[in-house]
Amino acid sequence: MNWQGLSGLLNHDMLVKLFERIPDWGIEKSTYLMCGPEGMMKNVETLLSEQKIPKDKIFKESFVQGIIDKDKKTAVGTEDKKAREVTIRYDGQEYKIMVEPGKHILETALDEGIDLPYSCQSGLCTACRGKALSGKVKLDEEEGLSQAERDEGYVLTCVGHPLTDDVVIEIG
Ligand code: FES
Repeated sequence: MNWQGLSGLLNHDMLVKLFERIPDWGIEKSTYLMCGPEGMMKNVETLLSEQKIPKDKIFKESFVQGIIDKDKKTAVGTEDKKAREVTIRYDGQEYKIMVEPGKHILETALDEGIDLPYSCQSGLCTACRGKALSGKVKLDEEEGLSQAERDEGYVLTCVGHPLTDDVVIEIG
């Protein structure tokens, strides 16, 4: 009742007003962290983009409910109908698994009793992150990785499908 500050939705105009109060606003050395509803984060991203803030200075935490959308799972399966061999290096061990079309790498490894790290299984937390040393991996969800990580070859096994037979992933 006694609140004297701004109030209302965090839309573009409100965000501009708030950011004008940040002492280092717009300075490239700042790092920007977002967490909240999808719409608000989109508004923030738009504003940061208008201010020409480099993408590698922007981080966001996204939350989604449940496991990855079944439609997305089958979408890749229709592209590639072949089971693919994947080599996983983790904790000093090397494992070879055959990943069936439409199945994820993590899911297959867990089904085979291989104890790999994971948490959300939705491509967001990066607990399952590994580096693809060779081969091609298609991700159903890329939001969890920054562009720099993708460029370096990092993949998320929980949403990853092998597209070639020479996939080698190093975890940890
Ligand atoms: S388990 Fe969270 S991104 Fe893979």
